[in-house]
Amino acid sequence: MTFAATLSASLAAVGVLLFLLRPRWRLSMAKHPSLQGHARIARWLGGRVPYYQYDEAHIFASDDAPPAIVERRRSAFDRLADLFHSRAPETIRSTDALATGVSDLQFTTAYRVPFQYRAYVNRRLKIGSLVQDTSGVLVTDLDGNPAYDLAGSYGVNVFGYDFYKECVDAGIERVRDLGPLLGAYHPVVADNVRRLKAISGLDEVSFHMSGTEAVMQAVRLARFHTGRSHLVRFCGAYHGWWDDVQPGVGTPGPARSVYTLKDLDEASLEVLRTRRDIACVLVNPLQALHPNAAASTDGSLVDSGRRASFDREWYTAWLQDLRRVCSERRIPLILDEVFVGFRVAYGGAQEYFGIAADLVTYGKTLGGGLPVGVLCGRSDLMKRFKDDRPADICFARGTFNSHPYVMGAMNEFLRRLDDSQLRRSYVDIDARWNERAAALNARLEAERLPVRFANLASIWSVCYTRPSRYNWMFQYYLRAEGLALAWIGTGRLIFSHDYSDRDFQAVADRIVAAARAMDAGGWWWHAPHLTNAAIRRRVLREMLAVRVRGAIRSRPHDPARSDREDRREARTAAPYGRGAHRETGR
Ligand SMILES: Cc1ncc(COP(=O)(O)O)c(C=O)c1O
Repeated sequence: MTFAATLSASLAAVGVLLFLLRPRWRLSMAKHPSLQGHARIARWLGGRVPYYQYDEAHIFASDDAPPAIVERRRSAFDRLADLFHSRAPETIRSTDALATGVSDLQFTTAYRVPFQYRAYVNRRLKIGSLVQDTSGVLVTDLDGNPAYDLAGSYGVNVFGYDFYKECVDAGIERVRDLGPLLGAYHPVVADNVRRLKAISGLDEVSFHMSGTEAVMQAVRLARFHTGRSHLVRFCGAYHGWWDDVQPGVGTPGPARSVYTLKDLDEASLEVLRTRRDIACVLVNPLQALHPNAAASTDGSLVDSGRRASFDREWYTAWLQDLRRVCSERRIPLILDEVFVGFRVAYGGAQEYFGIAADLVTYGKTLGGGLPVGVLCGRSDLMKRFKDDRPADICFARGTFNSHPYVMGAMNEFLRRLDDSQLRRSYVDIDARWNERAAALNARLEAERLPVRFANLASIWSVCYTRPSRYNWMFQYYLRAEGLALAWIGTGRLIFSHDYSDRDFQAVADRIVAAARAMDAGGWWWHAPHLTNAAIRRRVLREMLAVRVRGAIRSRPHDPARSDREDRREARTAAPYGRGAHRETGR
C-alpha cells in the first residue's frame, strides 16, 4: 500500500471513529462540570472521603482566626449550648433516647453540620426533634417552647397546619363507614379523579403511597410505552430516593439507565434531539431556584458557595424549549410536581410556567395531611398492558394505594381548593413573597450582615455573601430565636401561605436578631485573603493528608465521652493537618 493510500485509510478510520463517538461527545458536553453532574465519579470519590474531626483546640479556628476571635466564638458557642439545654431539657433528653432506636434520626443528626465539626457540635449543641403541638404558624416542643415553623413539613404544609387537621378530620368522617378497607374503592375516589383530571388537564390518574412511588411509576410507564431505556433528569434535581432518580452519592449501587444533564442548556436539548434511547425527561420545577445544584444541606455548607435565585421568565423559556424538543422526538415529558404542585398555583407548575406535560406527579400536600403520591397522565401512557400482547405488562400495585382515609382527606383538600378565598391567595403569590424577601434582604444589607434570601413562591434558600467556614452555625442562631428549621437547616426554608404580615414581621425580626448575634459571636470574621475557593482547597488538602498519612488512632468515636475527656485528648493528641485528627472505625 502506498503512503497516500495508508494515509487516506487512516483518515477515513479516524473519521468513522469520530462519527461513532459523536453521541458520546454530545453527552459529555451536556453534563454539568460539578460532581453532581457526574454521578459515577461522585460516587467513587464519595467512597474515598475519609472521616476526620477538628479537635477542641482547632474547632473554632479552622479558618486561622486570631485568638481573640476564637475566644469570642468559644464563649458564644457555650452560651448557645447553655441556652438550648436550659430551655428544652425534656425535648433534648427524649430526642437522645429516641435516637438510639431510630436510624433516620441518627442520620439527620449526623448530617446537620459539616462532618469535621459534627462530633463536637452534636455533643454540646443539642437540638430536640420532638414536638407536641402545632397551632397557626407555630410549633411547640415538649418543654412548651413555641417556634415559628420554617420547616413546612418537607413542603406538605402549604395552607397551615390547622387546615390539614381539618382536612384529616373531615376526610375520615366522610369515609368512616367504610373504614380501612383496601382493594375496593370508596366512592369519594371518583370525585378525586374527576377533580385531578380537571386540574392536571390529563386523562387518567393512579394513586400511590408516596411521591417516590408516583415518580417511579411515571418512569416505568414511559419505558414501557417507548421501549427505550434511559431516563433523563437534570443535575441536582430531587425526585425521591429510588436508585434511578438518585444516581451518585446516596445510592449504594450504580444506576445505569439514567442520564444526568445540565439544566437550562442547549447542549442538553441537543442530546434529546439526537439520542434514540431516551424514554422520558423528568423535571422538578423547584430546580428553577437553584439550577444544576441540589438543595444544599447545612451539612455540606463548607464555604459560602451556595447560590440561589429565581428567574421565572428564563425558566419558563427553558421548559418551553424542553416541551418542544420532547414533542418533536416523541419523548414523554414528566413534570414532577410533588413539591411545587398546589403551592405555586392552583394548577401547579403546569399553570405557573404555562406548559403542558405528558405525565405529572403530585404528592405531599395533596394528601390533605396524609401520605400520598399521585400520577396523572395521558391515557396512552398510563395503560399498564398491551391489548395485542397479553404478557407484556407494566405491573404496579401497592397495598395501601387509594386508602379510604387518604382519599377522604384528599377529597376535603381538593374541595377546599375551590374556595374562592383560597383561590385568590394564589393571585399575588410571587409579589407577596418576593416583597417579603426583598424587605428582609434590604434590612440585612443595611446592617452589613452577610446573609441573603432567595425566593420561589414561599420556598426560600439562604445564601451567604462573605466567604466563611462557619455559616452552618447560623441555623443554631435561628433556632435560638425561636425559628423551627428542617434538618437540612438554612438550605431550604418553607413558609406556609397562612403567614400573615404580622407573623412574617416577627420572623423577619428574629432572623435579623439571629444574624446580629451570629456576627457578634465572631463567626463571620474572615481573613482578607479568604475566598470560597481557598476554603475548598484547604478542606481538600486536609482530606488528602488524612488519607495519605493514615490513622493516627484506631479507637472508634464514642459519643458518650465527657467534655473533660475531650479536652484532655485535645491537649495530648498531636494536631494533624492544623487540628484535624482522624477517627477510624466508620
Ligand atoms: C420533587 C419531588 N419528587 C419526589 C419526592 C418524593 O416524595 P416522597 O418523599 O413522598 O416519597 C419529593 C420529596 O421531597 C420531591 O420533592
